[in-house]
Amino acid sequence: MSAVFSRGDDLPMAVRAEGCWVFDAEGRSYLDAAGGAVVSAVGHGRTSIVDAIAAHLGQLDYVHSATFRTEAVEAYAAELAELVPLRGARVYPVAGGSEATETALKLARATQVARGEAHRVSFVTRRGSYHGNTLGALDVSGRRRLRVPYEPLLGRAVFVPEVNEYRCPVPTHPVDCGSRHAERLEEEIVKRGDVVAFIGESVGGATMGATVPPPDYWKTVAEVCDRNGVLLIVDEVMAGFGRTGQWFGVQHWGIEPDILVTGKGAASGYWPLGLCIASGEIFTSVSQAGFIHGFTFSHHGAGAAAGQEVLKIIKEEGLVEAANRQGKKLGDGLAATLGDHPQVGDIRGIGLLWAIEFVADRASKTPFDHSQSVTDQVVKLALDHGLLLYPVRGGADGINGDAVLLGPPLTINDEEISQVVDRLASSLTPLRT
Ligand SMILES: Cc1ncc(COP(=O)(O)O)c(C=O)c1O
Repeated sequence: MSAVFSRGDDLPMAVRAEGCWVFDAEGRSYLDAAGGAVVSAVGHGRTSIVDAIAAHLGQLDYVHSATFRTEAVEAYAAELAELVPLRGARVYPVAGGSEATETALKLARATQVARGEAHRVSFVTRRGSYHGNTLGALDVSGRRRLRVPYEPLLGRAVFVPEVNEYRCPVPTHPVDCGSRHAERLEEEIVKRGDVVAFIGESVGGATMGATVPPPDYWKTVAEVCDRNGVLLIVDEVMAGFGRTGQWFGVQHWGIEPDILVTGKGAASGYWPLGLCIASGEIFTSVSQAGFIHGFTFSHHGAGAAAGQEVLKIIKEEGLVEAANRQGKKLGDGLAATLGDHPQVGDIRGIGLLWAIEFVADRASKTPFDHSQSVTDQVVKLALDHGLLLYPVRGGADGINGDAVLLGPPLTINDEEISQVVDRLASSLTPLRT
């Protein structure tokens, strides 16, 4: 019997991975169309990243980040600061996306206090969002199924509607959807009068499945935040590091957040790395009073060494451009093969982040009842076909709604894209009604 408090029953034993492929102890191979959890940006089996981590650890294992700076973190932060859409960026490395969100929420509150706005205590977020699983990050996550057991421990977040063009609540859809969302946000901010920050994923991910906001969304939201003294936190944990065909998702819409959080592809899974990145202005606001925060493993040099090698690979191999190029092929392949499937309601995405949403009825967009566990069935069937997908549940109304997310390594080639599409189509055959 296993002593592991595991996250599933009878999981296969992974023993090796290479490129877009994972191999188990039984000798089965799996095409990793999910990049794990949309983590593997540069692909599996990169010895140069392992070497970079080993070189750093061989020289310096651990020092406390409140006592020492390290060259690894300095060099990584300097390179990253040039890539993010924040002026004078200051990088706070942590050990994952949830820690990055926690750091951002506290940093936003600390900034408001430093600005003499201590009455600001609440955060506005969207229904259908996901920002992490620690209590603070969960509090600003609008994913009902994850929140329900912990609801009595939550309570600082105020919700505005999700941004999902497939199920858009805006009466004038598809016209002015972004500005209508921004108006709704402003109403909430003004009504509350105590808002610290608004947080949103640049492109919806784990809860909604690759939901690309309308073109006027981010610009109008940024204006609302600015006008009302509310800080803008953009979550790029899933969308960062080239995934959407820009280094960071919001760069598609040309806005500059006050704080950006990211993770996943940052170290491509070779090290647990998350990042909370503040604009120079935010950093300056809090630096006099000091930012009361920290983790034992923040600012770890090994994470920075891994992260910097990932940046090198993304740049040298043109993987941001590859996300655009290969993403278009993947999107076209999905549309051509699955576009007429009676249970496929929507195929959406950007770069190499795609989702397929399943519905009981296409015309009315009626979701399956969650008790039918359609997403779980599809993910299981795909696994049987040697294809790894990322499950997305509850996107239609918080409870119902079935989709799968595709976020393969940015190195995926044409032959592998065809295989993803074919294996997915075979996995969906039993779903036809
Ligand atoms: C947008 C977003 N933010 C935050 C997180 C939390 O990151 P982690 O699981 O590394 O704590 C995730 C994880 O899926 C995510 O997709």
